[in-house]
Amino acid sequence: MEKREELYAGKAKSVYRTDDPDRFVMVFRDDTSAFDGEKKEQLNRKGMVNNRFNAFIMEKLEAAGIPTHFEGLLSETESLVKKLDMIPVECVVRNISAGSLCRRLGVEEGLELNPPTFELFLKNDAMHDPMINESLAVSFGWAKADELARMKELTYQVNDVLKALFDEAGMLLVDYKLEFGRAGGEIVLGDEFSPDGCRIWDKETRKKMDKDRFRQGLGDVIETYEEVGRRLGIRFD
Ligand code: C5P
Repeated sequence: MEKREELYAGKAKSVYRTDDPDRFVMVFRDDTSAFDGEKKEQLNRKGMVNNRFNAFIMEKLEAAGIPTHFEGLLSETESLVKKLDMIPVECVVRNISAGSLCRRLGVEEGLELNPPTFELFLKNDAMHDPMINESLAVSFGWAKADELARMKELTYQVNDVLKALFDEAGMLLVDYKLEFGRAGGEIVLGDEFSPDGCRIWDKETRKKMDKDRFRQGLGDVIETYEEVGRRLGIRFD
């Protein structure tokens, strides 16, 4: 497999074409951004940590029967993934109130949400990823109704798998964002799962162990990502 030209550079990852038209290389960079790119920093080791973290989680999800684009680690910061036709809609599940939910509804952080909520956001930086619903997604052609139903089903399945995984390691999975794409007529989990795209709290102390450390200037961002990984059994050396 040969890595070819860069196809797309996001805020923290880049995607490269390969000599196989159905496979891409996803590169995890050290770049970190928040607030739609307003706050930016390079965090040493972040690319490596998130690449390994994502590989571990994607393998757990595959083992639980959730189709993902992940094919394998290529290097410290690179993974091989299946080419997907990405759906420009973000799926967010929340087990505990935090972040934009608190700002939008004026509710306090830390309320248990039972059953967990499911929200859709449009992937559109210029519009700050506005919240949408199924009707809007279908009417504008971003996704079909049956695709959205499958995305919701898979997003909740991911919750069952990962909530238990974090719980066993002494952590709470507060919320997370997933992105999906189409491949061979199937809905497949794409993008990444790392502490950049979810909220994780220590079960006892409720210490924030995710990107909120960067957003809120709490410090020890990557050290804490590594602690989350180590508790799950991931090795970073
Ligand atoms: O900001 P908000 O509270 O809506 O985020 C919910 C979850 O989705 C958080 O874990 C956040 O890190 C993640 N998210 C993301 N990328 C976005 C929006 C949200 O990873 N563009």
